[in-house]
Amino acid sequence: MTAKILLLPGDGLGPEVVAEAEKVLAALRDRHGLDVSWEYGLIGGAGYDAHGEPLPAVTLEKARGADAILLGAVGGPKYDTLPKDKRPERGLLGIRAALGLYANLRPALLYKELAGASSLKPELVAGLDILIVRELTGGIYFGKRSSAVVENYSVGSHTVAQARVASDTEAYSDFEIERIVRTAFEAARLRNKKLCSVDKANVLESSQLWREVVLEVAKDYPDVEVSHLYVDNAAMQLVRAPKQFDVIVTNNIFGDILSDIAAQLTGSIGMLPSASMNAQGQGLYEPIHGSAPDIAGRGIANPLATLLSLAMLLRYSLKRGDLADKLEQAVQQVLASGLRTGDIAAPGEAKVGTQAMGDAVIARL
Ligand code: NAI
Ligand code: MG
Repeated sequence: MTAKILLLPGDGLGPEVVAEAEKVLAALRDRHGLDVSWEYGLIGGAGYDAHGEPLPAVTLEKARGADAILLGAVGGPKYDTLPKDKRPERGLLGIRAALGLYANLRPALLYKELAGASSLKPELVAGLDILIVRELTGGIYFGKRSSAVVENYSVGSHTVAQARVASDTEAYSDFEIERIVRTAFEAARLRNKKLCSVDKANVLESSQLWREVVLEVAKDYPDVEVSHLYVDNAAMQLVRAPKQFDVIVTNNIFGDILSDIAAQLTGSIGMLPSASMNAQGQGLYEPIHGSAPDIAGRGIANPLATLLSLAMLLRYSLKRGDLADKLEQAVQQVLASGLRTGDIAAPGEAKVGTQAMGDAVIARL
């Protein structure tokens, strides 16, 4: 059956980088027999401009009918003064919620050619290849919250007549933990069969349940080596010796922080893809960077994060790991040949534009 892909360029540099992904899709269809069709939709500021909504109903309908979605980026200064519910990022949060995309896969991969871009010593990070699996629809970002003025408020032995008090709740059910942990075990099976679960089980009740469920699910994956780290130690280990990790699985808030640390280890925001998946294997794939208003429209953006997002789409949603490997190898070869966009060029190195980078990848497919 022909796979259906929805392309959502969004705002800023989104249209420029998604255009390169479309060229790659066409090449895979015409020259490598990929059975695929695609259409375009509007999201973010582009959705607002055309329909008055950051997630127009027509876009959501197209998304529901697609096997996979490739998104550029949303947002920009033009939209900063809009009311909250009309802002571009609402489009992104809305589509994640509507499709139930609970599993966020964030690889941190540092090609050896770019090891100099990291803030760590090249030998610590050259060849770094880790995958952070973050729970995306539960936990403290979605738990019960409150904000109130409380009379006679006590903390320990300290009491004040009046305090402004705000709270958020970290709550997880066993099934939410189980499904994200299974996603992580499956991913580890496709990689180096090492899974590290990150929690704070020495302090948090929700983390104790997390750890219990990981131990239960682990019985179904005897071929995967499991370890557990408290999140504070995991943060230290990530900057001390990041290459010890293969797959990391963790909750929403810890994953938010750890995945940004891991991204920074690579030093190249224009190189990092991501995937968000639901239980049906439907996925939304997008570069981790934003709409880069400072360089948008100039044809100089790095399209590789978007092309690597397309590789994840091929691997996870279309089950074409062979073509994903091919695309990732083409990217690696282009880097090895010395081609650089401005964001990954060393001082004094020659730079190419967005389209030249895309063409070079296609030439090596
Ligand atoms: P950003 O990721 O857009 O840009 C940060 C820096 O990285 C900028 O200097 C930019 O030029 C550079 N950069 C990013 N992607 C690049 C690429 N592909 N090639 C070369 N250089 C690249 O983050 P920033 O500036 O904080 O946010 C800009 C806008 O993007 C805001 O409106 C923000 O809300 C939105 N945003 C959207 C996200 C999304 O759609 N998922 C994620 C993060 C931010
Ligand atoms: Mg973040």
